[in-house]
Amino acid sequence: MSYEVTEQDERIGREETQKKISAIVPRELLPNGSYAPVPGIFDIAWKGLLDLPAYDFVRSMRELDNSIIKENEEWALRLAPMCIRGELTIEQIKQHELFTFKFTDAFPISIARNVFENVRNREVRDLILRHANEEMGHSELQVDFLERGLGITRQEVYDSAPLVSATAPNAGSSDHKAGFFGADTEEMIALRKESPELAYALVPFQERVVPKQMRLMGRALREKYGFKDEHALGFFDLHSYIDIYHERFGVYIMAKYGTNKRSQELFRAALEDRRRVLVNSHRSAYYAVKGK
Ligand SMILES: [Fe+2]
Repeated sequence: MSYEVTEQDERIGREETQKKISAIVPRELLPNGSYAPVPGIFDIAWKGLLDLPAYDFVRSMRELDNSIIKENEEWALRLAPMCIRGELTIEQIKQHELFTFKFTDAFPISIARNVFENVRNREVRDLILRHANEEMGHSELQVDFLERGLGITRQEVYDSAPLVSATAPNAGSSDHKAGFFGADTEEMIALRKESPELAYALVPFQERVVPKQMRLMGRALREKYGFKDEHALGFFDLHSYIDIYHERFGVYIMAKYGTNKRSQELFRAALEDRRRVLVNSHRSAYYAVKGK
């Protein structure tokens, strides 16, 4: 008897066993067998939030976030507005992607760290792990762009020095406390103590702006900069929809567990602060690539 798994075993596993398991496991199994911690959360136009106790809190945070983004539109959308206008050279785009690569690469880890504060809440724990898992490999897609689209080697990307220090003061701003997803701000530390569920939820909630950013960026790269190699643009295309679901991870937790007034206030303060940090990071990066 052979103890090797054969191609036939794999076929049976994929085509027959998966079908059977989907019928008996009271959770959806996605095509690749991954677990969806909340049934239906990946469905188009999912409405699973409406009956949850803190749905109003979600609504008000979405409104607040929309208003912050609108107020800072030039700086809240990564450097997409400048690329849509064709303001950056290819070399400047390259510098910027090298800069943001560092954060994309560290992102799954900064998500996964939340697991240790949420181990007792199985649902939140599983959402965190699923989220971290989904972010894995995104930095490799970004390297594909740098390599196939911009002509640098993978090793050069991995070895590149950060363009802007995460804590450096930057042009036009004095309150740049931490880069993208870097060190916790005071507000985050307070939220983490009060509600580890909401402290995690803030991370995917903030991703709600990403689909717009990346759709604009993909369009700019094709239309303004003439990129034609679809393999090079996967990073931008993938993010034009995957973060629709990541926002859902955040809002589901907010709507279910965000019923406490103090936690809501801390979440609001942390959100305002983190958006400010992101806006400042984009601004810093812009001035750095422009050499100003
Ligand atoms: Fe994401």
